[in-house]
Amino acid sequence: MSPTDTTSSSARPERGPVPPRRTEQPLLDTRTRPLRDLRISVTDRCNFRCTYCMPKEVFGKDFQFLERDQLLSFGEIHRMVRVFRDHGVEKIRITGGEPLVRRKLERLIEMLAYWDDLDLTLTTNGSLLEQKARDLKNAGLKRITVSLDSLDDAVFRSMNDVDFPVEKVLEGMEEAERVGLLPIKVNMVVKRGVNDHSVVDMARYFRDKGPNYILRFIEFMDVGATNGWKMEHVVPSRELVERINAAMPIESVEANYRGEVAERWRYRDGSGEVGFISSVTQAFCRDCTRARLSAEGRLFTCLFATQGTDFRALLRGGGDDEQISRRLQTVWGARADRYSEIRTAETARLRKVEMSYIGG
Ligand code: GTP
Ligand code: 5AD
Ligand code: SF4
Ligand code: SF4
Repeated sequence: MSPTDTTSSSARPERGPVPPRRTEQPLLDTRTRPLRDLRISVTDRCNFRCTYCMPKEVFGKDFQFLERDQLLSFGEIHRMVRVFRDHGVEKIRITGGEPLVRRKLERLIEMLAYWDDLDLTLTTNGSLLEQKARDLKNAGLKRITVSLDSLDDAVFRSMNDVDFPVEKVLEGMEEAERVGLLPIKVNMVVKRGVNDHSVVDMARYFRDKGPNYILRFIEFMDVGATNGWKMEHVVPSRELVERINAAMPIESVEANYRGEVAERWRYRDGSGEVGFISSVTQAFCRDCTRARLSAEGRLFTCLFATQGTDFRALLRGGGDDEQISRRLQTVWGARADRYSEIRTAETARLRKVEMSYIGG
């Protein structure tokens, strides 16, 4: 039996072998893309106010975040994962807002770690990582991704807009390294004129930290409807490759798997690799295998969606796994999303769901 509530103490040892997936048939969408990754937002709250994600003018004191009882419980998330895994999901990424502000998150990790065939990971801003890394590791988290936009303290403080020091995030990463949450992927969103001067410093710093760290540069995207996105703020990955190559020669590397989001490059001197996530200039929708579950249980089949499908009512209304499975098959079977491939100035202005709600 697998754990379905938040009270049982241990996720695995006395429970015997993990059951095989109920179906080996991949679920395909209208473009024959299988469902492989589920990104689960566990809260829409965050202790940062990154200017490109949760601008203070919108996410101020009066902003209505989700109430506790609106959030899926850990038991409800666990049930969703059970069904999604049966339909071919291999990777679970916990997101937010900032996932580490959700109380007892390590308990959810422990519950999901029951399925040891899942790649279980988490994206965090790193502010609480120093305190939480060990508990997360002990609970069964496999690796971690930390968002970090600059090593320049003044730039970092102004981008997170809560005056949070970069040093604390670096200490959090060191603790994650110590406890073995590896590799540590570092995501830097590059915005022209704001932090693009930090790019080579970041590359050098994480190259020197050694192979446990993989830095990825992300093109600033038009997610949500409040971040004031303009094409002129985007630094195309091609330009970043040139800048880094001029300082430290790099060459491209084969993807680890089909549909990998980041394009991989390695330093020619063998000192590690960097990645480039180019959703704006080189869309990767063709191989997109990702679904996103919001903290209140809505399923989105694209990061740029305007609407999701509610699963919470089904979960709370006594729906069984079979009904959840049928709804999932309907939603994924009808999926045709390829937003980044068809982006225009008009679509960039659509009222899309916010990044802090859907988790990135
Ligand atoms: P791993 O390969 O498991 O390390 O994960 P990943 O490469 O998918 O990385 P991560 O989940 O950290 O994603 C990095 C960033 O890429 C996200 O925060 C988004 O900004 C962007 N991203 C991820 N998935 C998508 C996607 O499906 N579409 C778009 N447009 N951007 C994405
Ligand atoms: N464009 C690109 N990446 C973004 N993120 C948040 N907003 C944007 C955006 N507009 C990134 C964060 C974090 C992840 C969750 O998504 O920096 O790494
Ligand atoms: Fe918070 Fe991440 Fe958004 Fe920054 S990018 S406000 S850390 S959710
Ligand atoms: Fe997938 Fe939508 Fe991103 Fe394209 S834009 S890669 S379909 S999430």
